[in-house]
Amino acid sequence: MLLKKLSLLNFKNIAESELRFGNGINCLVGDNGTGKTNVIDAVYYLSMCKSAFGMTDGQTIRHGADFFLAEGLYATDNDRQEQVVCSFSRKGGKVLKRNGKEYERLSDHVGLIPSVIVSPADSILISDAADERRRFLNAFLSTIDRGYMTALIRYNAVLAERNRLLKMQPDEVMLSIYDAQLVEHGEKIHARRREQVEELQPLVAQYYRLLSEDREQVELHYKSELNERPFAEVLREARQKDYANEFTTAGIHRDDLVLKIGGYPLRKYGSQGQQKSFLIALKLAQYTILGRACGEKPILLLDDLFDKLDAGRVEQLIRLVSSDTFGQILITDCNPTRLSRILERAGSTYILYYMADGQATLAEK
Ligand SMILES: Nc1ncnc2c1ncn2[C@@H]1O[C@H](COP(=O)(O)OP(=O)(O)O)[C@@H](O)[C@H]1O
Ligand SMILES: [Mg+2]
Repeated sequence: MLLKKLSLLNFKNIAESELRFGNGINCLVGDNGTGKTNVIDAVYYLSMCKSAFGMTDGQTIRHGADFFLAEGLYATDNDRQEQVVCSFSRKGGKVLKRNGKEYERLSDHVGLIPSVIVSPADSILISDAADERRRFLNAFLSTIDRGYMTALIRYNAVLAERNRLLKMQPDEVMLSIYDAQLVEHGEKIHARRREQVEELQPLVAQYYRLLSEDREQVELHYKSELNERPFAEVLREARQKDYANEFTTAGIHRDDLVLKIGGYPLRKYGSQGQQKSFLIALKLAQYTILGRACGEKPILLLDDLFDKLDAGRVEQLIRLVSSDTFGQILITDCNPTRLSRILERAGSTYILYYMADGQATLAEK
């Protein structure tokens, strides 16, 4: 997928801007706070209908304005044109259009313009609690698998009901009715997660090896109570605990991803650069699977490229993503000279924009 032109109006600190991108590497350089990440977020918005950084639609409107608009003109890998417009106004809410036609449901759009973002905010996947890792897995799987999304929505609805019921100390028969539904949706979710992590694991290990030039080994595992026993049994065993705690203490809503380096927990034993490399490897693995599922090379968004990485690893990364496996790439960095130097050393051709005060200017070369 190729984003040929991005037009923005009142998008965070960008009053009005039009950027044309090339099909390889596109760089945005400029000081802190000039709007580089905002451009990246706009591209993400057009793919996922929401901010990559947890900003609400309202917070995305430029201060003092009453709407924002982002428009992307794309060419698919087999050269079909797509136009996507996402707008939000305080009065009219969010509207998403594909080639002039408004979507009935925003979720129908997800998957059309595949993109993967790597940013400093990814570190919450390592440092924070398991729910961030589940959120990552859920968002990823929902993008490539409608059935998964449906099962997850249903599971969460039954779970909320069951938790409400537990506060009233229901009888066992009543609880069993809910258990049967949890099992039905939960088993599907579990199977899909297990399959997905098995597909991710070798890719993560392979990308990590390339990034670190074979210095360390990493692992990714799926942790779930359902790995050992059927869900129905897990629920039966947890039942007395559930009564005592008045909520559902076991199930796929407690799953986690285990990240390891050299056999030890990444959070405790990985250096900042190693943790960052792991996250990049994970995102590149996601990129590969998303590309296979959509039949289209996703747009790769590398925000703050040098964040926590040394120049050697940045160069490895640039070499890696310059290969044919990857398509269009947007990179941001605050230092123009070090970025150009590495790109030139890696032999990559690229387009460069200078960002200042919400304005992007194409560099002459
Ligand atoms: N809704 C908004 N309206 C106006 N400015 C905003 C809004 N949201 C964020 N900003 C501004 O955008 C700037 C941050 O832009 P960002 O893209 O993160 O910078 P960087 O170039 O460092 O990546 C900050 O100056 C911030 O105040
Ligand atoms: Mg930034």
